Amino acid sequence: MDAGQASRFSLADFFGPETEDPLEPPSDYAEWRSASTWATGLYERRMLAAPAPRTEIDAGGSRHSVVNLASYNYLGLATHPETVAAAKAALDHYGTGACGSPVLSGKTDLHGALESALVDFTGREAALLFNSGFGGALGTLQGLLRKGDVAVIDDKSHMCLIDGTKLAGAQVLPFSHNDPESLDEALTRTKGKRRLVVVEGVYSMDGDVADLPALLEVTERHGVGVMIDEAHSILAMGKTGGGVTEHFGAESRIALKYATFSKAFASCGSFVAGRSRTLEYLRYYANPYGFSCALPPPVVASVLKALEIARRDDSLRSRLAENATYFRTQLHALGIDTGTSTTHVVPIILGPHRELLYMLSYAMLARGLFVAPVDYPSVPEDQVRFRASITAAHTRADLDEALNIIEGTVVKALRNARQVKAAS
Ligand SMILES: Cc1ncc(COP(=O)(O)O)c(C=O)c1O
Repeated sequence: MDAGQASRFSLADFFGPETEDPLEPPSDYAEWRSASTWATGLYERRMLAAPAPRTEIDAGGSRHSVVNLASYNYLGLATHPETVAAAKAALDHYGTGACGSPVLSGKTDLHGALESALVDFTGREAALLFNSGFGGALGTLQGLLRKGDVAVIDDKSHMCLIDGTKLAGAQVLPFSHNDPESLDEALTRTKGKRRLVVVEGVYSMDGDVADLPALLEVTERHGVGVMIDEAHSILAMGKTGGGVTEHFGAESRIALKYATFSKAFASCGSFVAGRSRTLEYLRYYANPYGFSCALPPPVVASVLKALEIARRDDSLRSRLAENATYFRTQLHALGIDTGTSTTHVVPIILGPHRELLYMLSYAMLARGLFVAPVDYPSVPEDQVRFRASITAAHTRADLDEALNIIEGTVVKALRNARQVKAAS
């Protein structure tokens, strides 16, 4: 298989259990991987410094300075002196790790303080901490849903929400993205079953916002509870950082509020907040909670500090929104399609040009811009893209430099591709 042939395949083509032994991947997978090193070389790049607006990454064995549009450090708290100091102080006092499940020995007073702070922040009765973002969503759904139940899930939702439902043995029933009529139809069709509606706050590949007013009108008419995944919106949206739920004034209408600590909190882990009676049950049935080590105390301390900073300082969110609007407007002026994005997650949509996705990643990196490529099957085949994560910490100079690089690479390449198509 040569590189040209390899580019016609994607991860979606090697999923089947075609071998006798699960330790043996499909026979042509290794061949495809080795013929695709030009593409796979873009993934798992090594950062050599903090996920800040300007950082360094390893490119072919040498240090490379870049403007970074690939990290979810939305409020710039990964290197904030107060979050760093809080983590260092906890490291000195508690050591490196919790060394036990939260149910048995891993919970410290810091974990308790973070749970209380999240209860206060979300206005819910209780909160539960998980040691992973993915694991938190997985555990919440696995812990609450049972065989025969249905999770009615927006069809652009993250894999952790789908996998959690599957792990529970419940049915995943997708409804069309942000479409109240499709949601209504799904709920009408499943009348009589135990159901939970699952949506995100800001969608991770498109940067658009859940249409909560329209969707909640439908869920309330059907009397079905809602779980929201605020991974990309927590701390980054809403007057006090409460995410899309706060943005729409819908806190009292959402039963379960879940979010990760890996984005605006600039750390790792997640929480779910809701009614005490729900979480007291979940605590003992969510396997990723009870059967896994508690968050390391330095992580908990940095998350607590990030929460304090983000609640007291709305200017970080204003700066984030201003930066995102500036960047998107400038991209539009360059003729770039940013889809339905209205937030700090800004897709740069190439269309069906998969070969450009890889070629442009290298070209942008060579000029000093690091931005994440998103290929099929993570997004539809005719909408491959780069995904820019804008942060409050980016300066105008950072964004302008990124825009110049995009103009000199992406804009040029798309123009050429269109000319070639028009001529053929
Ligand atoms: C919408 C959404 N939910 C959950 C997760 C999982 O979070 P984590 O990366 O903290 O495990 C992600 C990760 O990108 C996400 O985008």
